[in-house]
Amino acid sequence: MYAAAQQQLLFQDAKDLLEAENAPGLMPRLAAVLRWADWRYYVQSDPALADFEYDTLFKKLQALEARFPGNSTPDSPTQRVAKGLSERFPTVSHLVPMLSLENTYNAEDLRDWDRKVRAGAGAQEVIEYCVEPKYDGASISLIYENDQLLRGATRGDGIMGEDITANVRQIRSIPLSAPFSKLGIHQIEIRGEAVIHKDIFADNNARRMAEGLAPLANPRNAASGTLRMLDPAEVSQRRLSAVLYHVSELERIPASLFETRLSDDSTSIGAANDHFHTIQNLAALGFPTPAGEMHLFRHIDDVIAYCEGFSLRRDSLPFEVDGLVIKVNDFALQEKLGMTAHHPRWAVAYKLAARQATSKLRQVVFSVGRTGSVTPVAKIDPVPIGGVTVSSVSLFNEDVIREKDLRVGDTVLVERAGDVIPYIVKPLAEMRDGSEVEIVYPSNCPECGHNLERQEDEAVWRCINIACPAQVQERIIHFCSKDAMDIRGMGESNVKKFCALDILKDIPGLYHIEWERVATLEGFGEKSVTNLQAALEKSKSQPLARLIFGLGIRHVGETTAKTLAQAVSHIREFYEWDEDRFITLEDIGPKVAASATHFFRRSETRATLDALEMAGLNLANDQKAMQVSEGAFSGKTFLFTGTLSKLKRSEAEAMAEAKGGSILSGVSSKLNYLVVGSDAGSKLEKARKLGSVSILSEEDFLDMVQGD
Ligand code: IVH
Repeated sequence: MYAAAQQQLLFQDAKDLLEAENAPGLMPRLAAVLRWADWRYYVQSDPALADFEYDTLFKKLQALEARFPGNSTPDSPTQRVAKGLSERFPTVSHLVPMLSLENTYNAEDLRDWDRKVRAGAGAQEVIEYCVEPKYDGASISLIYENDQLLRGATRGDGIMGEDITANVRQIRSIPLSAPFSKLGIHQIEIRGEAVIHKDIFADNNARRMAEGLAPLANPRNAASGTLRMLDPAEVSQRRLSAVLYHVSELERIPASLFETRLSDDSTSIGAANDHFHTIQNLAALGFPTPAGEMHLFRHIDDVIAYCEGFSLRRDSLPFEVDGLVIKVNDFALQEKLGMTAHHPRWAVAYKLAARQATSKLRQVVFSVGRTGSVTPVAKIDPVPIGGVTVSSVSLFNEDVIREKDLRVGDTVLVERAGDVIPYIVKPLAEMRDGSEVEIVYPSNCPECGHNLERQEDEAVWRCINIACPAQVQERIIHFCSKDAMDIRGMGESNVKKFCALDILKDIPGLYHIEWERVATLEGFGEKSVTNLQAALEKSKSQPLARLIFGLGIRHVGETTAKTLAQAVSHIREFYEWDEDRFITLEDIGPKVAASATHFFRRSETRATLDALEMAGLNLANDQKAMQVSEGAFSGKTFLFTGTLSKLKRSEAEAMAEAKGGSILSGVSSKLNYLVVGSDAGSKLEKARKLGSVSILSEEDFLDMVQGD
């Protein structure tokens, strides 16, 4: 419908109009730009403007239409409650139109709105406002009839929505029934937002990336896309949540049929005469609501102060929030104020700083991580997004670049959703002028020149040269980091400096730094050198778990490092372990087991550990060592094979270890006891052949444990 050249002009005009002073001559241009932006958003599902830009233009047009009504046209984008409907689901009418909210962006806008509310309220002096988060998800409407969830619908065009009942039923936090009839309510329509927990969103994306799929853009798109999936089972897996913030319609059971007296029943939805208590009551019935995040204020100054301070809380909320909603609390006053075709006059949204912006992609650099992964990073013209200036954006992997068809020189839409790291939503293809160039992915490590390899099940390319200086440097940074060995002062910049000057070549090198040389460097006075030395000295007695985490074994995070540390009395015991042995530990799966086995078998690992021990670091788990020396099984070795019936293998091993025994990973002349469960295979055979191993049943073993 729109040719590329035309779109380019419209995009440029949008930017010009954002800057332009209001004048009646701008009205047709604003209408044209907004019509195009609507088409991009609703028809192409490919927004061309950031939300903030769209709203600003929309408001400019609205303001001009209000001032010059003679110049407005019936097809103006302001003259409808837009939003498209797809044909995938049956359409249903909403009992009450689902309106949108008017947006405000600053204190002045809020004061204007307050003035309008006061004018509408007439004589009333104190107006109570309820302020609650504006959840960034997909709006839904739920109808309960005779206590049962009857229907769930999307907003659609505000009048008609899509019937997505089956999908809504997959949202675990939405009750399928609720005792409304006890409260005298026959039918009720509840509005809210389907949302996705930030952690679940991040998890889903981590999984997608591990599977080589591009990450989903943001929690809002994830929620609205999920609601429209055709397979409810798939919806269930995506683990959506909901927040319900409005009761739009309520039909009572006729008084003659309803015996219980409602009048003084404070838990009744129908009994409350304001928004705050209605939502509290809904929460008391088990519905997910913003109840804990609602605040009442009696003066617009307090509302403003709360709104302005809210951005600090934004990131700590479990769901993505794009602003706050301020509602007149009293229902009678809400009714008096009424609504326009587009929004209620009794509520307004206060939008937080835009988290999207457009910028220019200037260059792609490739950075090498400590596991050798090569990550493309886009260098863009610096833009402020949600309070921080963004100039570097990870592109994750090659597939993302190809799927989005990104090119150097592209104008790109950048988003920072919540505490999620910034990412490029997409290039604005209509802004291309032909000078853009393809991003060339390197086939060799940009740091050491070694070949890159990509495993079949992975989306990333890796440099497999273990001595690659970039990897070594990243490994040292990780080793010194706060959650690992916590070596204060040895942060990223010092490590990089020392590596560049060859003062530091590997992890053990930290403990053999030539301090005379450091003292000659600029910025390293006597005090900072002494502090660094003290921090390094202190790190020598860090517990084993921190050391294991600091070694940077792939897939081994802090928790797994603790599990590993608890399983041995000295790190060298792992040299004997195989994957089967690692898997017996709690929460360790095949991926970690394979990577740990591989790590401890490598000669480089062993050399590093020897060097660290020589330097005086703690490589033992002292508690474990103590337990061992005191136990009745001290000096005895055990191996468990086959399926045990009473104990988990990990429990049995822990029991043996608690008494001082140690666990071997294979049958050898060093083995004293083989404990066999059902289906024992080759290990049993081998032990029999050896003849020196005592073979025990699970019961024998338990007797032995109890009878020592
Ligand atoms: S009240 C008539 N409260 O924001 C009542 N809306 O941009 C209108 N939204 O369409 C809605 N959080 O989908 C309300 N706490 C909240 C909200 C909220 C998110 C959504 C809703 C609305 C959109 C307007």
